[in-house]
Amino acid sequence: MTIREMQEEILRLKAQKNIVILAHSYQRREIVEIADYTGDSYALARFVQNAKAQTVIMCGVRFMAETVKILSPEKRVYLSNGEAGCPMAEQLDPELLRALKEQYPNAIVAAYINTTAELKTLCDVCVTSSSAERILSKLPQNEILFIPDINLGRYVESKLPQKKFYFVQGGCPTHVRATAQDVARARAMHPEAQLLVHPECRFEVVKEADYVGSTSGIMDFAKQSSAKEFIIGTDNSIAEHLQYDCPDKKFYPLSKDLVCHNMKLTSLADVLNCCRGEGEEITLSEETRLQAKRCIDRMIELGG
Ligand code: 13P
Ligand code: SF4
Repeated sequence: MTIREMQEEILRLKAQKNIVILAHSYQRREIVEIADYTGDSYALARFVQNAKAQTVIMCGVRFMAETVKILSPEKRVYLSNGEAGCPMAEQLDPELLRALKEQYPNAIVAAYINTTAELKTLCDVCVTSSSAERILSKLPQNEILFIPDINLGRYVESKLPQKKFYFVQGGCPTHVRATAQDVARARAMHPEAQLLVHPECRFEVVKEADYVGSTSGIMDFAKQSSAKEFIIGTDNSIAEHLQYDCPDKKFYPLSKDLVCHNMKLTSLADVLNCCRGEGEEITLSEETRLQAKRCIDRMIELGG
């Protein structure tokens, strides 16, 4: 089958079986093209709540499919490729988190949405890269134990000096590859370009940026800006998608190493398998689902 034939077969089955396909913005171009909705973690979580379809295929990583299942237990939720996990989501051991909660008894536990459902059962509020500052600023508590991404945590801390943050060492193995040297090199090569970065990057990169935001935030900023050139400090698929969306502008990856291998695992063949009911269906015990849902509900309540 060609790429186009496979896409057409997916679109046919999707319509016939009333399936909704969600794709995170880091997915390959051929996946984004057949998705019903593409966005950042927050937008994907919100979209699902209103989706009418009874079957959802999540083209992304495991915690994203789990989030869909937590919010919509009545739906059949497939993870496009069962091997696709977010290494950061699994970095923290639940036992260690229990110990940290004892160490900081007055702190509210804020989980980046990039966490397993099991870890979410132990947390008070969830945040995403696009909602963290807004949500944490609204909390009455002044002490926050933020897990697992120390880079996003430090970035939000710099925006909320009135709050006291506690961190554990953790972060994204993809974004950590971008360094201040990459920024210096990219700026020298493209002196007119604006630098747009994801807050999962190291602080040495974030502090040099013209804009810091989620994947959707970066894309919206680039589309709306009157600037013509941009250096993109997040997974390189964002530069690629933007180049299709804005052919009159130029997009340069901050580093060629900014590639999330887990996000690139999903192929059209995986999506076709899921449409045929042969992929990995997400299941969660009702106890885990309800416990994990509390912090996601809080995110939606405070996130607006
Ligand atoms: P966004 O919510 O910005 O899409 O981030 C998710 C992610 O995993 C980035 O690495
Ligand atoms: Fe996880 Fe990083 Fe990949 Fe995002 S880019 S899914 S945080 S490993």
